Amino acid sequence: MVGYIEASAAPVKKTGQIKLYAPEDFEGMRKASQLTARCLDELVDIVVPGVTTAEIDRFVYEFGMNNGGYHAATLNYRGYKYSSCTSINHVVCHGMPGPKPLKEGDIINIDVTFIVDGWYGDSSRMYPVGKLKRAAERLIEVTHESLMRGIEAAKPGNTTGDIGHAIQSFAEAERCSVVRDFCGHGLGRLFHDEPNILHYGKPGTGVELKPGMIFTIEPMINLGKPDVKVLKDGWTAVTRDKSLSAQFEHSIGITKTGNDVFTLSPKDLFNPLAARQAE
Ligand code: MF3
Ligand code: CO
Ligand code: CO
Repeated sequence: MVGYIEASAAPVKKTGQIKLYAPEDFEGMRKASQLTARCLDELVDIVVPGVTTAEIDRFVYEFGMNNGGYHAATLNYRGYKYSSCTSINHVVCHGMPGPKPLKEGDIINIDVTFIVDGWYGDSSRMYPVGKLKRAAERLIEVTHESLMRGIEAAKPGNTTGDIGHAIQSFAEAERCSVVRDFCGHGLGRLFHDEPNILHYGKPGTGVELKPGMIFTIEPMINLGKPDVKVLKDGWTAVTRDKSLSAQFEHSIGITKTGNDVFTLSPKDLFNPLAARQAE
């Protein structure tokens, strides 16, 4: 049986118990998360054909420096050397920034976590590079909707399995597959904490959701099979069948009646294709 503990009574490390945060903690999470969301908003105009992922990463680093001197959690995290993950096309997650320029038709996930006053705001979105093929657009739409359905299921009384089921049942009905090798995670004053949030599962299974819990939901959805392998660099995860993969991530907190999404886009740019149509 899983235990819960008031976060203020717990050490800032993994303890095997699920931390329940207070309302003022939610405000700390919101501040960190909004810095991340503003950065992801600004990237919309930067992600164009010809830009390199190293330039994108540089922008993220500078954004943190110029907006209060904040660092990204990924910089020097377990040997990772960048302020962002930049995962292009068949890269599932943890793509490392480098000198390769983006080209028309690419899809890229950019994942950023800023730390503000000790709180971690973790979010990622898809960015279309120029005009996309219909299959790529559809994958982005399915993945965004998968996350939204997962968030809808994140409320007190439901379980982590209800979140996974909401995501899996939608994505698979759309003939896409859910990556099993990576999951969402508790966070707060830690980057990765209990519980794991699986993006697949059966209703009513897993741990019960209680007000005060804070975690990410970050489904990775593939057009082909769900299988993943990690390249020799030790980070880059790709689809084994080289099919396209997409991901969206929000950091949320469970409230008495539902949830609070900390990483909402201030400019309503989170769903990139909807935002483009609104232009
Ligand atoms: N931001 C990722 C997540 O959503 C974690 C990246 S860890 C890194 O949990 F080291 F790869 F950057
Ligand atoms: Co995350
Ligand atoms: Co992330």
